[in-house]
Amino acid sequence: MPKDYSPFTPGVPVPPERFAGKADEVRVLLARCEQARAGTLMNTFVIGERGAGKSSLCALVARKAERDLDMLTAHVFLGGVSTIEEACRRLFDEIARSSQERPWFEKILKIFGRHIKEVGLFGVSVGFQATPDELRAIAMRLPDELHRLLERLDNARRGMFIVFDDINGLAGSTDFANWLKSFIDQTSLRHPPLPLHMVLAGIPERRQELVDAQPSLDRPFYILETSLIQREDACGFLISSFERAGVSTDPEAINLLCDYAGGYPALLQEIGDAAFKADTDDHLDMRDANRGVIDAARIVGQKYLQPTVVDAIRSDRYRSLLVKLAQLTIDQGDEIRRKDVLHVLDDEEIRVFDNFIRKMKDLDVIESPAPGTYRFKSVLHRLYYRMLAREFKET
Ligand SMILES: Nc1ncnc2c1ncn2[C@@H]1O[C@H](COP(=O)(O)OP(=O)(O)OP(=O)(O)O)[C@@H](O)[C@H]1O
Ligand SMILES: [Mg+2]
Repeated sequence: MPKDYSPFTPGVPVPPERFAGKADEVRVLLARCEQARAGTLMNTFVIGERGAGKSSLCALVARKAERDLDMLTAHVFLGGVSTIEEACRRLFDEIARSSQERPWFEKILKIFGRHIKEVGLFGVSVGFQATPDELRAIAMRLPDELHRLLERLDNARRGMFIVFDDINGLAGSTDFANWLKSFIDQTSLRHPPLPLHMVLAGIPERRQELVDAQPSLDRPFYILETSLIQREDACGFLISSFERAGVSTDPEAINLLCDYAGGYPALLQEIGDAAFKADTDDHLDMRDANRGVIDAARIVGQKYLQPTVVDAIRSDRYRSLLVKLAQLTIDQGDEIRRKDVLHVLDDEEIRVFDNFIRKMKDLDVIESPAPGTYRFKSVLHRLYYRMLAREFKET
């Protein structure tokens, strides 16, 4: 019978209590929270590819900033948001929601007053509501509004940690970029200072869009890139996840899963989940692990690859070329040389190779760091084709 439970969380941020590795990133972000709390505005841009774990990292840091540093925290998801007013509404919405069941919630209720609304079918959650004019006014004076909020919380919270996540809809907007610039300028000059650590999270292209829209935004942000989980942490995470679900594990099966996940957070969850589902006797062996890698490759292809790429690699020849390139990266590292590639291709593949490379460059799958060398543009792509290689080996 298929399992209806999994200790893994593919496709959604990992709950803070199951967060694995990345101790350095967590330390840096928390240190910046401490500096903010002492009265210096801190701005950080957390960048990483899709599925690299940006949201999970920010959620963990928010949890720690609230618990250990007594900060007021809001992790605001701006997916689909295209106006500054709605971004501000969501910020206050999130402050209200995350304060629920906290000792300072009564104060928030008083401060927000008629702007608090009950949401959810049974009124079990709260939100923030205001007219467009009010929201516009809040957006214009956001540093003052936040300062007043902290003041009226009366030392119940010391400083704020705000994450604007998934800024996709806003990153290219000149209005947003200009607003952000004046928000940062106003806050930096403010006296008394606003003890705020503001984080934006997005893929590197989003940051570039923002800087293109307002070049001065190049400077105020500290860039924190997040990507892989170290192998030891990744293996430990897999073992404890299986254990929690009552599944014992063969070390070589765990090793295989770790090899293919390559420390990439999204793959770790997808591969773990697929292997967990492949297991039928509460013991993870090589057979389950192998099945897991193959099944996960299919799922990752559907979930993470752009449809244009999926279309292009429908051809068996292109898939086999990508798999060969990915296999070469195992021995040679990220950058592979053209002459080494040509060495492992058959005549037909050599004939189409230049067209193939052109197409993959157009699709942003492959780049040439130097003449005669190639590299996968994203870690996810490199690892994905390695996973496909496993299936090729099977058939
Ligand atoms: N430190 C971690 N430990 C375990 N799993 C993680 C960790 N970080 C992320 N994950 C898992 O990896 C996947 C991607 O995580 P997350 O959503 O945080 O990434 P993201 O970079 O925000 O992605 P996107 O660009 O799509 O928003 C999820 O399945 C999540 O559960
Ligand atoms: Mg995210």
